Amino acid sequence: MSVETRAAVLWRLGAEPPYAGGSALTVESLTLSDPGAGELLVRVEAAGLCHSDLSVINGSRPRPTPMVLGHEAAGVVEAAGPGVIDVAPGDHVVMTFVPSCGHCTECASGRPAMCTVGAVANGAGTLVSGGTRFGRDGVGFAHHLGVSAFAERTVVSRGSVVVVPPSVPFDVAAMLGCAVLTGFGAVVNTAVVRPGESVVVFGLGGVGLSAVMAAALAGAHPVVAVDTVAEKLSLARSLGATSVLDARSDDVVAAVRDATGGGADHALECVGSAAVLETAFAATARGGTTVAVGLPDPAHRTALPAVTLTGEGRVLRGSYMGSAAPARDIPRLIRLWEAGKLPVGRLRTGDIAFDGLAAAFDELAAGRAVRQLLRPAAT
Ligand SMILES: NC(=O)c1ccc[n+]([C@@H]2O[C@H](COP(=O)([O-])OP(=O)(O)OC[C@H]3O[C@@H](n4cnc5c(N)ncnc54)[C@H](O)[C@@H]3O)[C@@H](O)[C@H]2O)c1
Ligand SMILES: [Zn+2]
Ligand SMILES: [Zn+2]
Repeated sequence: MSVETRAAVLWRLGAEPPYAGGSALTVESLTLSDPGAGELLVRVEAAGLCHSDLSVINGSRPRPTPMVLGHEAAGVVEAAGPGVIDVAPGDHVVMTFVPSCGHCTECASGRPAMCTVGAVANGAGTLVSGGTRFGRDGVGFAHHLGVSAFAERTVVSRGSVVVVPPSVPFDVAAMLGCAVLTGFGAVVNTAVVRPGESVVVFGLGGVGLSAVMAAALAGAHPVVAVDTVAEKLSLARSLGATSVLDARSDDVVAAVRDATGGGADHALECVGSAAVLETAFAATARGGTTVAVGLPDPAHRTALPAVTLTGEGRVLRGSYMGSAAPARDIPRLIRLWEAGKLPVGRLRTGDIAFDGLAAAFDELAAGRAVRQLLRPAAT
C-alpha cells in the first residue's frame, strides 16, 4: 500500500533566481511507496531551508534529478518497515543528512558523519537500501541526502533519524538536524574550542550563527562574527559575538588580527566560498586552526601559503555535519536548548507553506533570511 504526498521537486540543476514563478522547483503530487526493510515512513512537520538545498538548485552542488529536496527536518513516524525494532509509529524524530549504516569502517571508528554507505547513497540520490520511494507514472524521484523533507510524507532509512522527546517543538527540532548540528559540531567536535581561545566565524546563516552560539557556550573569547548583511551582524551580537565585522567594508584580516591580539585561534568558514576560506586561513594565529564548513562549488580551488602549514603549525580541517555522532549530539543539543543555553528558535525567520517555497529560496539567495521553515501541513 502506498500513499500520495505533495512534494517539492527539483527538475533540473543550474537555475538562477528568481525561483518564484519559475519551472525549476515545483510542488507535485507523488506516490510514496511503503517503507522497505530498515526504513521509516515519516510525516514531516517542519523542514528548514538550508543553503545546501540552494546549491543543488543553482547547480553548484550537483545531484541527480528529478529530486525531492529538503534535508533538515523533524516529524512523526507513521510506519516502520521490517526489521526496525527501536523506532515505532508515533515517535518524534529529527532527520539528519548523512544516514549511518552503523557497520562500515567509519561508523565503527566513531565517525558516522563520514559513513561510507551513507555517502554512496547520498551521492546516488537513494536511500541506504539503494532504492527510491517517490514516484509517478513510472518515473522515480531521487532522495535529497536521504531525507527529502520538502514533502508531506517521506521515507527514510533508520540510520537517518534520532528519536527526540515530543516536548521539543518541531521547528526547533528541525533546525537541530542540519544548521545546529553542523555549526555547533564544527566548534565543539572539529575545532575543539577551549575556554579563552579566540574564534572568528565567517558567514552568519543558520550554520554560522549556530557556530557563534557554540563558541560563546564553549567559553571562547573574543568571538568575532563576519558577514555582509547588517541584520546578521546584529543577530550574531545578540547570540554571543563580542565583535562583528562587515566583510564589505572592513579589512577583515587586519580587523580580526586586531580583535584577537594577532590572529584567531580558530577561524570557521561558514559561507561556502573558496576565497573566504583563504581569508579565514589568513586571519588565524600561528598554530591556529581553520575549519572549512561551507560547501563551495567542487570546481573551485583554494590557494594557501603551503609553508605556513609547516613553519607556523597552522591546521586546516574540514567539518561535515559537524563531525557529529547525531545519536550522541542531538540529545546534548536538546539539553542545552531546554536549559536556555542554546536559543535555537532565534535562527527562525518564519514559517512558509508549499506555495511560498520557491519565493523563500529567493529570500535565502538574497541573504535576507536565516532559517525559513516549510510546514507541509500549513496549506
Ligand atoms: N559542512 C556541512 O556539513 C554543512 C551543512 C550545512 C550547510 N553547509 C554549507 O554551509 C554554508 C552555510 O550554510 P547556511 O545554510 O548557513 O547558508 P546561508 O546562505 O544562510 O548563510 C551564508 C551567509 O554567508 C554570508 N556571506 C556571503 N558572502 C560572504 C562573505 N564574503 N563574507 C562573509 N559572509 C558572507 C551571507 O550573507 C549569509 O549570511 C553553505 O555553503 C552550506 O552549503 C555545510
Ligand atoms: Zn543543510
Ligand atoms: Zn557506516
